[in-house]
Amino acid sequence: MKKILVLPGDGIGPEVMREARKVLDVVNDRFTLGLACEEALVGGSAIDATGHPLPEATLQKAREADAILLGAVGGPKWDKLDMALRPEKGLLGIRKALGLFGNLRPAILYPQLAGASSLRPEIVAGLDILIVRELTGGIYFGQPRGVRTLENGEREGFNTYVYSESEIRRIGKLAFELAQKRGKRVCSVDKANVLEVTVLWREIMEEVAKDFPDVQLSHMYVDNAAMQLVRAPKQFDVLVTGNMFGDILSDEAAMLTGSIGMLPSASLNEKGQGMYEPCHGSAPDIAGQGKANPLATILSVAMMLRYSLAAAAPADVIEAAVSKVLDQGLRTADIQSDGMTLVNTAAMGDAVVKAL
Ligand code: IPM
Ligand code: MG
Repeated sequence: MKKILVLPGDGIGPEVMREARKVLDVVNDRFTLGLACEEALVGGSAIDATGHPLPEATLQKAREADAILLGAVGGPKWDKLDMALRPEKGLLGIRKALGLFGNLRPAILYPQLAGASSLRPEIVAGLDILIVRELTGGIYFGQPRGVRTLENGEREGFNTYVYSESEIRRIGKLAFELAQKRGKRVCSVDKANVLEVTVLWREIMEEVAKDFPDVQLSHMYVDNAAMQLVRAPKQFDVLVTGNMFGDILSDEAAMLTGSIGMLPSASLNEKGQGMYEPCHGSAPDIAGQGKANPLATILSVAMMLRYSLAAAAPADVIEAAVSKVLDQGLRTADIQSDGMTLVNTAAMGDAVVKAL
């Protein structure tokens, strides 16, 4: 038996997770996967129930799970809390505690959705890029950090952008291994014209590349990468970058595909244990209205089966089912276009279940 920890979280998290669970339950039965799901609290809902965004009980269950499926965390209700007790700390805390350093964010354009992209169809048609974001280091976790008062009474905020050689090597190796299984090109994104930490990043990427002679390495400054992603995104295969640049570029890349509501992600540690979540956030503005797109979470289930549970066959079936409902013309509001059938969250989930 394999244990799956389900963390619905906040905002649209619970409603998209409900649909993903329907899909997971069906493939669990059909392929006799022997998965046992258990739910726990994280983020704002955990704050409301226990006073902490990452209760010890949740962390304990996360450590024991073979894989974790997460909805989304955060919302205006908790925005005024101290930084250490905000919902986001629940998410960041699990990433750090489990060592989930490797964040895979694929941006794949479903041909059926070419018209939903804000870019012209010819620029995005066939798009298939993979952003590999370092997830447990960099400026997100660097010390010291805080807000201090200077001698003149003025306050000053500060964070530390730091990466060790081993952290860079580890994410670089993962990116190259993934590139070997696809287009065999890695573009490392940095700001080596200004920031020393990324001068080291670039140097280590060059070193890692020597072990992967079949993969071609290039480098790009992050500002240029942001521009190239909307100018000619198909030039990329695998993009590897640090935590903050990856956060920003992955949202940008998501939009190329029409909607961030379509994109799953995986966060892996060195043991292959993983947390799987949609790239979108908790979208408090549409929470509870049945407007959310559950496909990113459903596709996260597929990634979970493939990467953490060695179950590629059911993953293929889920991905094919998603493609099929798009072929049927079913669309949630975020991907709606002329002539398509607008459906709510639950109807989209049910349609995927039927297409399985
Ligand atoms: C993401 C999110 C998180 C991040 C937030 C919610 C802490 O934006 O997963 O990209 O910045 O990593
Ligand atoms: Mg983000």
